Amino acid sequence: MIRFAALLPIMALLLTAGAAPAPGAAHFTANGAFIPPSDYREWIYLSTGLDMSYSDAPSMPGQSMFDNVFVDPDSWREFKKTGHWPEGAVFILENRGGASRGSINKHGHYQTEDLMGLEAHVHDSARFKGGWGFFALNGAAPAKMIPYAAACYACHQAHGAVDTTFTQFYPTAKPIAVKAGTYREP
Ligand code: HEC
Repeated sequence: MIRFAALLPIMALLLTAGAAPAPGAAHFTANGAFIPPSDYREWIYLSTGLDMSYSDAPSMPGQSMFDNVFVDPDSWREFKKTGHWPEGAVFILENRGGASRGSINKHGHYQTEDLMGLEAHVHDSARFKGGWGFFALNGAAPAKMIPYAAACYACHQAHGAVDTTFTQFYPTAKPIAVKAGTYREP
């Protein structure tokens, strides 16, 4: 028999959740806006791209930019078992300015406090056509989904090696997917 008192925490959770529950690390407001995770810097670090560009010309001549990629820990744990990114997976791409001469540094580039952009890629098949949604984040403000017509969707679907993510560029994740047989040669 379940006593009423035992149900209280569950009821409180249902009440405070407000919005429709979503699997995993993804949290949404009642009208479907994505709530940016405040602790993604404590998630699993996947990689950093430096001055990556998809066209022949560099994107910002004379200015370096890093992009740091993080995924939530539960999804990483699941990915290690299956080679797939599970429902509820949240990826964060953090763009940071690169500097080269500062302090004792004379060559090469290091990252600065200058946050140049923050984007999310979220797996929730009940919510998104094609299973994944993209978001441009601005501080703690809930973000509306980037429309499906945006280039994000087409490029990730066509070239992402695992489940529309660019796992081919994440050195610790790639071998797991290759071994699991979920890796699609881009
Ligand atoms: C022309 C191809 C292309 C387009 C368009 C594109 N991306 Fe990506 N995206 C990439 C590549 C390549 C990476 C891997 C970056 C790295 O290795 O550091 C990536 C990585 C990401 C990641 C990290 C998780 C993942 O899926 O691998 C996020 C989040 C992301 N992009 C968001 C976006 C958003 C939002 C847009 C649209 C505003 C967008 N991208 C448009 C190529 C693209």
